Amino acid sequence: MYNEMENDILKVLFSQEDIARRVAEMGTELAERFQGKKPLFLGVLKGCFVFMSDLVRACPIKSDLEFIAVSSYGNATSSSGRVQITHDVQQDITGRDLIIVEDILDSGNTLYYLLDVLKLRKAASIRICTLLDKPERRAKPIQADYTGFVVPDAFVVGYGLDYNQQYRNLPYIGVLKEEVYR
Ligand code: PRP
Repeated sequence: MYNEMENDILKVLFSQEDIARRVAEMGTELAERFQGKKPLFLGVLKGCFVFMSDLVRACPIKSDLEFIAVSSYGNATSSSGRVQITHDVQQDITGRDLIIVEDILDSGNTLYYLLDVLKLRKAASIRICTLLDKPERRAKPIQADYTGFVVPDAFVVGYGLDYNQQYRNLPYIGVLKEEVYR
């Protein structure tokens, strides 16, 4: 069937197969690292939802999961330093080993803020797992512990990542044509 989103994609950066392969590796690595610890996967909505669902299924250990939603007052292409929690976790995270799951680490503003909040809640450990890392854009001193792919400073969409809430359902990660967001 004709895919009406495809016209807006300049090129595919990571195919469905590339992503599946890398997510499987990441799941195995996390399983080895966290076996016996029953970690708590903490997904940052909305972008994480596709990655999170594949990652937890690729990680065959006892674990549970939560979601947190934040809004950052930025424009369509970049976040700002001002972040607010709009949906919070539903359980006490004291003493838990947290794995924060992100689709993309960009300026670092979101995680800089979230880490501050989560540290106050006395988790035993906090690790950051991001599918994509865009280090060129970093404004805060945040580093991921587990990274799927490093990406250039291009507008990427798909596999959970959006532009104006669109394209999250593309099964691959692509670069959006400039004419779409200019
Ligand atoms: C994206 C992404 C991260 C954040 C990263 O979320 O999911 O949470 O931006 O950017 P930063 O490192 O510059 O803070 P977005 O605000 O686009 O919301 P969404 O997850 O609902 O798409």
